[in-house]
Formats: sequence, structure tokens, C-alpha cells
Amino acid sequence: MNWADLTRDELLAMRADLAAAYEAFKAKGLKLDLSRGKPSSDVLDLSNGLLDGLDTHEAEGGTDIRNYGVVDGLPECKRLFSDLLGVPADRMIVGGNSSLTHMYNSMAFCYLFGAPDGSGRQDAVPVPWSSVPGGVKWLCPVPGYDRHFSVTEDFGATLIPVPLLEDGPDMDEVERLCASDPAVKGIWIIPLYSNPTGGVISVEKAGRLASMKTAAPDFRIFWDNAYGVHHLWEAHEAPDIFALCEAAGNPERVFYFFSTSKVNFPGAGIGLVAAGPETVARMVAHLKMQTIGFDKIMQLKTVRFFGGSAANVHEHMKKIAALLRPRFELVLETLDREFAGTGILTWTKPKGGYFISVDVLDGCAKAVVAMAKDAGVVLTGAGATWPYKQDPRDSNIRIAPTYPALAELAQTMELLALCIKLVSIEKLLESK
Ligand SMILES: Cc1ncc(COP(=O)(O)O)c(C=O)c1O
Repeated sequence: MNWADLTRDELLAMRADLAAAYEAFKAKGLKLDLSRGKPSSDVLDLSNGLLDGLDTHEAEGGTDIRNYGVVDGLPECKRLFSDLLGVPADRMIVGGNSSLTHMYNSMAFCYLFGAPDGSGRQDAVPVPWSSVPGGVKWLCPVPGYDRHFSVTEDFGATLIPVPLLEDGPDMDEVERLCASDPAVKGIWIIPLYSNPTGGVISVEKAGRLASMKTAAPDFRIFWDNAYGVHHLWEAHEAPDIFALCEAAGNPERVFYFFSTSKVNFPGAGIGLVAAGPETVARMVAHLKMQTIGFDKIMQLKTVRFFGGSAANVHEHMKKIAALLRPRFELVLETLDREFAGTGILTWTKPKGGYFISVDVLDGCAKAVVAMAKDAGVVLTGAGATWPYKQDPRDSNIRIAPTYPALAELAQTMELLALCIKLVSIEKLLESK
């Protein structure tokens, strides 16, 4: 039954019952957190072998991992990631435990030193983005990842939302904006299992990103493959963006990011950035001013933990998926049971990754999040999935089901359903 068709009296009667259930929930004094996409302790426990010591301090080629050096990462570590992701090892910088650091550093590199335009011309000196008249503009598919938006915001870029559709961004809009304005320097893309929709970019759209005409010759795709091996049901693959860019004659167009934060430990993962040949060479030259080498002990431990084999990483990810799948199923079953046919909520069925995106009636998201908080359940802030935290329809909410145990998640979803229904009824009553 579509709730928009209910009479005022019917809505009022439902509100009375739901409000009583909500008050009962409040009285329980719950403290539950569904706000961030963190791995749960049962998932983390799968990687506890990484806490054990190494029986050597020698890496490939006799490198003493206790000492300085190998600024761009151990070769065996690059090889593992290359096998896993299909990214050329000679395009990678591996190190640090956070890919966000690499994203931030890559942005800083472009702002400070400029991004090579790939023309191969000796006289083509990169122009620092900090000198772009009026400032850089950046395309942000929405709904998207709040920390992406804050990286670009931190550099002072003007963030331009573009709709994220099921198979990637609205490419007509992206092409229009990129072709007409040289200040548009880049776009955030989460190719596989997007945060928060769980969608996958199509090869066709990736190809258009790689080949489109851009008024900025130094345009960049920030391709964040954070969930590149995080399948939940069927396995999908991210398009080979390096091959697509190269085939289109734009070999420098992509910055590629990945980390093992959600493969083993967010507290001690391995992050990487890969880029076109000229870009990566220039970045390494600057990196040498920044460090004499990242933590090679964790790099070697990671390689040893997986026996140097990409196939073993995939096996490990299957174990993680087995723990995460019931959590996603619980959320999706609850949404289906409580909201199918009501017309007050739409949601994505993620193909993988860490999140589920829901849209409540326009003007209701902030009220739902506030109501849940009053009853002890913290959700990701309404608006977080939009640049500047401003969701113009105030409708999108990100659900992050990976952290709580199943019983807690069930309670949280029960409460969330109550809040969505109560706030929606108020909205519907406005026009009755
Ligand atoms: C799309 C995306 N990229 C990056 C990250 C963070 O990655 P890292 O831990 O490697 O900094 C997250 C974490 O939620 C994410 O969702």
C-alpha cells in the first residue's frame, strides 16, 4: 500500500502505534553505532596472523627491512598488488597504511607542482593547480564518500555534484562540464562497489572517462578502488582504467588508489597510488624529499601473510564476505519487509563493498537521523554523501552495516524503520 494514498485518519492511527514503539525503544537506553564503515572484530580476527613476528628481516634483493630505503615500496609487495589488481607494478608507489594519505598527497602534488599533461612534449611544463585563475573545480558523483569531498574541499576546490547512476556517473553531464571549462581538473570515481550505493561502473562509462575531451589538458580521474576485492555475492571487476586511458592516448589521466585497510587491518594496512609513467616518476622524485621509506616491515608481513599470492587474498576475502553477507542480508530483508510498496523509501541493493544507500522522502533525512540519535543510534550524518554536506533534497542516508554484531544490527534496523515511518508520516500529513 502506497502511504501517499492513506487518509489523514489512517496516518494518525499509524502514528500513534509507531510513536509508542519508538518510546519503548528509547526507554531501553541503547547505544549503537551505524555511522562509519569499520570492520567488525570477527572480520579483524581473520588477519590476526599479521600480529605475529617475522622470521627474517631480509626482503627480496637482500633489502634489510629494518633500515632506511626503498621509498616506493618492496618489489614483492608491488608484485602482489599488481597480480591482485592488474595495475602495472612500475606505476606504483606502495606504503603507509592509508590510501587517503595517497589521495591527499596526489592532490598536493598537483596543486604544488602541476600534473603532467601526457603530451610528451619536452617544453610542456606542468602548471601548478594552485595557480588556476578562480581556483580548481572538481566533479563529485553523488551520493559519494564524504572524505573524498573533504580532501578536495581542503585544497579549496569548488565541488560540483554530478548524479551517480547505477553504472557510474551521468557521463553526458560529466562530458559537458569537462569539455567547456579548463578549471575542471578532475573527478572522484569509486569504480567497484561505490560508497555508498555499492554500484559498479560500466566499461562503457570508464571508456568515456578515459577518452572524453577535456578543456584541461592535465585533467585527472581519481580512481579509488578501495573495494576492488570486496565482493559480497557474485564477483565483479573494475574496468582496466590504465589500459583504457592508454588506448585513448591519455596515459597520464588516472591516479589509482587501493589499500588493504578493509582486507586486513585499517590500523596497519598498506596503501598504494599508481599513475601514468611521467606522473609517477615525478611523484617519486618529490616523495624522496618527504621520506626515506615507508614501513617495510608491514609490507613484508602482508606479502608473507598471503604467501605472495593474489589467489590467497581472494580466498581471504571470501571468508570476510561470509561474515559480512548476513549483515547486508539482514538490512536488505528489513527494508524489504518494512518498506516494499510504501513509496516512502527507496534503496540500493549493493553489489558488494561496505554500504547501503537509502533515500527517504524529500526533506526527511535530517529528521530521521536526529530521531535515531535521540533513541541512542548514531547514523552517518544526513548530507554527508554530498559535497559541503548539503543534500539539496535532504533525502539520502548511508547505512554502514559492517561493524555491529547481527543482534545489534537487527535492533538498529528496527529502530531506523520506526524513525523513517514516523518522520514520513509527519511529511505526508503536511498535505492531507
Ligand atoms: C571509497 C573509500 N576510499 C577510501 C577509504 C579509506 O581508505 P584508507 O583506509 O585506505 O585510507 C574508504 C573508507 O571508508 C572508502 O570508503
